[in-house]
Amino acid sequence: MKKVQLTETVLRDAQQSLMATRLPYADYADILADMDKAGYYSIECWGGATFDSCLRYLNEDPWERLRNLRKNLPNTRLQMLLRGQNLLGYKHYHDDVVEKFIELSIKNGIDVIRIFDALNDFRNIATALDSVNKYRNQRTVASGCISYTQSPVHTVEKYIEMCKELKSMGFDTICLKDMAGTMSPYEAEHLIKGIKDAIGDMTLILHTHCTTGMAYMTLTKAIESGIDVIDCATSCFSGGTSQPATESMYYALKQYGIETGLDEDIINKVNDFFKPVKQKYIDNGQINPKSLATDAQALVYKVPGGMLSNMIANLTDMHAMDKFDEALAEIPKVRADMGYPPLVTPLSQMVGNQAVTNVLIGERYKNISKEIKNYIKGEYGIAPAPIDPALMEKVLGADGSPVDCREEDQKRTGEEFVAAREALGDLCRSEEDIMSYICYPDQTLKFLKDRKAQEENEAVYTIEAM
Ligand code: CO
Repeated sequence: MKKVQLTETVLRDAQQSLMATRLPYADYADILADMDKAGYYSIECWGGATFDSCLRYLNEDPWERLRNLRKNLPNTRLQMLLRGQNLLGYKHYHDDVVEKFIELSIKNGIDVIRIFDALNDFRNIATALDSVNKYRNQRTVASGCISYTQSPVHTVEKYIEMCKELKSMGFDTICLKDMAGTMSPYEAEHLIKGIKDAIGDMTLILHTHCTTGMAYMTLTKAIESGIDVIDCATSCFSGGTSQPATESMYYALKQYGIETGLDEDIINKVNDFFKPVKQKYIDNGQINPKSLATDAQALVYKVPGGMLSNMIANLTDMHAMDKFDEALAEIPKVRADMGYPPLVTPLSQMVGNQAVTNVLIGERYKNISKEIKNYIKGEYGIAPAPIDPALMEKVLGADGSPVDCREEDQKRTGEEFVAAREALGDLCRSEEDIMSYICYPDQTLKFLKDRKAQEENEAVYTIEAM
């Protein structure tokens, strides 16, 4: 019987998309024992924005959350999303930092590490893969992930080449990550058939979002074309900017005679559990009804919905909404000048801001942001297509040439670890504390100070109670 498995995203991408990753562990601890029996391919539960959000907003230790997930989901693959050399942040880290992060992630309970680079420059995910291979156990899965976008250089042939490269690098599975939800059913069909022909029986995964309204159609075509795993969210946390619904896909697949391995009663029970959780965040305003709706604008303008709303907010702040159409038309031009980067964080913000600047000043690239300069210098990696030569010259000078980001990244100086130990002093209890500090110094320092203060209070309270 044909088989398609489902990854459940409610604990990571679904709550990240619908409520800015503010779901505390305590809100779902009581359903984990059931989720462990649901039969998911994996549960995506860590990485992405969860790490930052734990420290910044939820006063939770992200590593402790992971250990608790591991303890309560002993039979299910735990999955995380990793931004390659950026780990969970926005800058490139040295290789020794990347290696230590992955060692600790596996040690604390992660099984599936989905690794991507915003530019699909696979040199930026190679160290992460090597590290997974160094510390892997029998359950570990290294998933090579492609950031999906549309442009004149992003052809089916190019994606097939990328998949062949991921396979030859030694990844266990390949994931197509359609972060903006712009992959159409037609594109899914051609892409997945072509990729499956090229990579044979290697597991292929599709990650998409309902944002533009196409995801269910796209998944249907993907299933007909041979996809192995799809990402879904329990139905009350599905739709809008989140993933398609787990139970709906289960029922549809069942009628096709496709086995999912899911337990129908349990996936319904999981959804019943999350209904009041969702209602709580609708009532307190953390789930914005806008994120639950379909917004097809990304298909018309070829820019993700989040980027449009950012631009509207910026132009409104500057009392320049009359420039909206002009700025919108400038976005694809800036993106073309930059060699068609996928419009994913942080590139979506960088391209959007530069487009607005170009229009407001009335002269293109009179002011160039620091981030765009660094991009053009090569610090993010190699652009999918050549960068406009005139823009290159403007940033690098007449005889300047871009840097190779690997030169800096491959340094293993250990300096970050030393600096973190010094900064944390007696607040530091573990390698995990050090890694949290390297990733998010200010948030971690505050979190660890609070932890210490809380323990001292508790100690005083215990003595007084005796
Ligand atoms: Co996503």
